[in-house]
Amino acid sequence: METTIAAPKPRSSTEVDFLPLQGTDYVEFYVGNAKQAAHFYKTAFGFQSLAYSGPETGTKDRVSYAIRQNKLTFVLTTPLRSDNPISNHIHKHGDGVKVLALKVEDATSAWEETTKRGGKSYLEPITLSDDDGEVVMSGIHTYGETVHLFIERGNYRGIFMPGFRKWESNYNPPDTGLLYVDHCVGNVGWNQMNPWVKFYEDVMGFRNILTFDDKDISTEYSALMSKVMSNGNGFVKFPINEPAEGKKKSQVEEYLDFYDGEGVQHVAVATNDIVKTVSDIQKRGVEFLNIPTTYYDELPARVGHIDEDLEPLKKLGILVDRDNEGYLLQIFTKPVEDRPTLFFEIIQRKGAKSFGKGNFKALFEALEKEQDARGNL
Ligand code: FE2
Repeated sequence: METTIAAPKPRSSTEVDFLPLQGTDYVEFYVGNAKQAAHFYKTAFGFQSLAYSGPETGTKDRVSYAIRQNKLTFVLTTPLRSDNPISNHIHKHGDGVKVLALKVEDATSAWEETTKRGGKSYLEPITLSDDDGEVVMSGIHTYGETVHLFIERGNYRGIFMPGFRKWESNYNPPDTGLLYVDHCVGNVGWNQMNPWVKFYEDVMGFRNILTFDDKDISTEYSALMSKVMSNGNGFVKFPINEPAEGKKKSQVEEYLDFYDGEGVQHVAVATNDIVKTVSDIQKRGVEFLNIPTTYYDELPARVGHIDEDLEPLKKLGILVDRDNEGYLLQIFTKPVEDRPTLFFEIIQRKGAKSFGKGNFKALFEALEKEQDARGNL
């Protein structure tokens, strides 16, 4: 099946990108126990200790651990008391993504340009400073209770951000080859995909580069629709999913029920060697969706020649898809918390810029099996 991607560039050559993004700065999770979550991400995914913020550094109401692997930075934040708004967030949603932080050259301009186009302000531009310089940040709301922060760190030399100190730990499991955020997917409610597509177009200057309708993404039982939004230089990609009517409950609907609202469904992280990364992560205890081995019988005919041996892909459950520009390898974890909400994708792109449309059926059948076991199909 051929997939063509619209070039992620401004709508006309004379149009200036009013929100130039340099990529994802970090992803912040609100969690019930950041100390244990940091341990999990270090142990299971190979993140390295980076920075710490809490009462000892002058932040009295919360604790945050910043962890990093190559260009992938996660911040895990937990409130210290029940009257903290973060506690309400966790009570409602469980552990989940609060902030998709984007790196910009000018956080003040990013806030002005987006709010004047209808973006709802979350944080007016503020300057945080310490002995290592300053970071300017601002932010706007997106779907659900999720927010985008714009981070300007051109004048900062410190380890992460003012308010944080270096986190020295004696426990440093080796990394697993995860490199950077490839894309982050949001699940939104019924009839909400197009309004959010319009938000990313109007407020953030993104373009819709790919669309999947319920015929592309359906199994015998359930369906969803998806549109992929990309910024001008293609560094930031946000697919938006909406449930669609099927015989049974859409996986997006299950998410919305258990997250109690719209939010980030999965974060896809890139690797240059998916077989090595996934073997490693699996040994460290991360569970992946089980793909029926019959998937691999028809794989050579569907994707043609690939550099990788089929056996390890089959053993690990790694999926392959091809588009006009090349191919990609991808795999999906099971949810990383007890609520069937957030999970991770690991992706290796070999030319392909698409999202694995040829794998949707196998993938969603695997997801439905899990959903059924939970009694939510
Ligand atoms: Fe994905």
